[in-house]
Amino acid sequence: MEVIEHDVIVVGGGAAGIRAAIAAVEADPTISVAMVSKVYPMRSHTVSAEGGAAAVAREDDSLEMHGYDTVKGSDFLGDQHVIEYFVEEAPKELTLLEHWGCPWSRNEDGTVATRAFGGMTTKRTWFAADKVGFHMLHSLFQHSMRFERIVRYDEQFVTKLLVDDGVVRGVVALDIREGSVRAILGRAVILATGGAGKCFPFTTNGNIKTGDGMSLAYRAGVPLKDQEFVQYHPTGLPGTGILITEATRGEGGHLKNSEGERFLVDYDYGVGTKAELGPRDMISRAIIQEFRAGRGIKGPYGEFVHLDLTHLGEAKLKERLPFVLELARTYVGVDPVTQPIPIRPVVHYMMGGVDTDIDGATVLPGLYAAGEVACVSMNGANRLGSNSLTECLVFGARSGRCAVTFARGSSAGNEARMRQLAEEEAARLDTLRGKSKGGETISQVRREMQDAMEDGCGVYREQTSMDTACRNLAQLKGRFADLVLKDSSKVFNTELIAALELGNMLDVAESVAVSAAQRKESRGAHTRSDATTRDDQNWLHHTLCTFDPAGPRIEKKEVTLGHWEPEERKY
Ligand code: FUM
Repeated sequence: MEVIEHDVIVVGGGAAGIRAAIAAVEADPTISVAMVSKVYPMRSHTVSAEGGAAAVAREDDSLEMHGYDTVKGSDFLGDQHVIEYFVEEAPKELTLLEHWGCPWSRNEDGTVATRAFGGMTTKRTWFAADKVGFHMLHSLFQHSMRFERIVRYDEQFVTKLLVDDGVVRGVVALDIREGSVRAILGRAVILATGGAGKCFPFTTNGNIKTGDGMSLAYRAGVPLKDQEFVQYHPTGLPGTGILITEATRGEGGHLKNSEGERFLVDYDYGVGTKAELGPRDMISRAIIQEFRAGRGIKGPYGEFVHLDLTHLGEAKLKERLPFVLELARTYVGVDPVTQPIPIRPVVHYMMGGVDTDIDGATVLPGLYAAGEVACVSMNGANRLGSNSLTECLVFGARSGRCAVTFARGSSAGNEARMRQLAEEEAARLDTLRGKSKGGETISQVRREMQDAMEDGCGVYREQTSMDTACRNLAQLKGRFADLVLKDSSKVFNTELIAALELGNMLDVAESVAVSAAQRKESRGAHTRSDATTRDDQNWLHHTLCTFDPAGPRIEKKEVTLGHWEPEERKY
């Protein structure tokens, strides 16, 4: 067993992970950072982000307005001290990224261009056409290469956190290319592995988003927070779920039903005058309501409505939304210059995640989390589009710095003990690889898990649907133990990876369903048909879901309020 030592370990190579690694080495010129990622960093899911990153930039904007919009968007479940810190740091982080090479689009006068996004009162979303994630990730990755002390372990899948004496001491990583297993020891670990959209059948998320970091933390006894809040993005392509960015609506696109009506304008869906620029939870619900009212358009992949960009003109579409043109032409055979794009709501983002404080610290000493894997509590019950890329930077940086402070004050673990734990994990992986006894296949269990989530925890939920999902997921977890695997080879054994990812997704899916089933109100993205109103009296608190071999355990955690008083959320 190879044992490697660093000071800080970052798990994940997307925006939050790279930003954390850079912040860590900048905070202390003597430390070394391992960046361990199951994919080559430029293949991290950040790369697929399209529409932009939010931060105050214009004279008609203010930190107060960005803060209020975010609190209101969260349906008052966001922690206000976290949101205040976020909005203050956001412009600094996006400017820093420009200095590292991010080519933000410009106004005629050379200032940074910003566009409108849902739920924001003014244009505050910075963009680089509609390939923002690609440009941000390139800038971060290239900047990270300046630091020799960031040592990359690409295509290494972390399967376990090494914990001794109640402190995290490192990770066990499976080298996907060779099949070997190594222990990477460190005095602090930052999880930055992204979300878990693949728990659902229809998602904008890439196949790599399987809740790995959430499951690692959960299995180590760290609670997952606010898991019931799963964001549906209103505009995904039917069939594939490929994202058509909200920037389409920010640039003036219209949503139309089968009768050609702009239904968000004509009917009261709570979005008021915002129409297409309402928040995602409300617009997703409005689309489903249109389907239910018989005003959806039927297609081979179910119902959809139209996203009409034809009035924007070819020149604007080419300049501002070139990727949308490419995606619509390639994946649905539609030319947005002359034809409307079919779209429907699609799972996009998890507001919940590993419970952290504002520093990214978890209850497990030495363990930090940042980005979508974490729930630092800035998004509450509903995230505003374009806040998450900025969140990755702001809280990636902070967790990187805080992890260094922790690592400086922490001793190295007992190496012999860590080696032993890592060897036990390697033996577990050996048993799973090519496991010939069993009656269940990965694809079947995965499909049933995804269906259980869609049926039980979709845009609209109710007690019976959520309870059924809980029961089905508990059974699927049992069936997971009976998986059969056919590939016993070591090199790029993708079947083994798929099995490990499925195990992680089952943990996350169950935590979502159980957290949802206990919240007896509607708030943000958690919309119950059988409890339709928000109930601040009883439910203005976070949900914590903790692993227990007997089944997930649910507790409450206080929301940090501030000067923005909870009020009815109307636009
Ligand atoms: O629609 C989009 O471009 C997505 C942005 C986001 O989720 O922040």
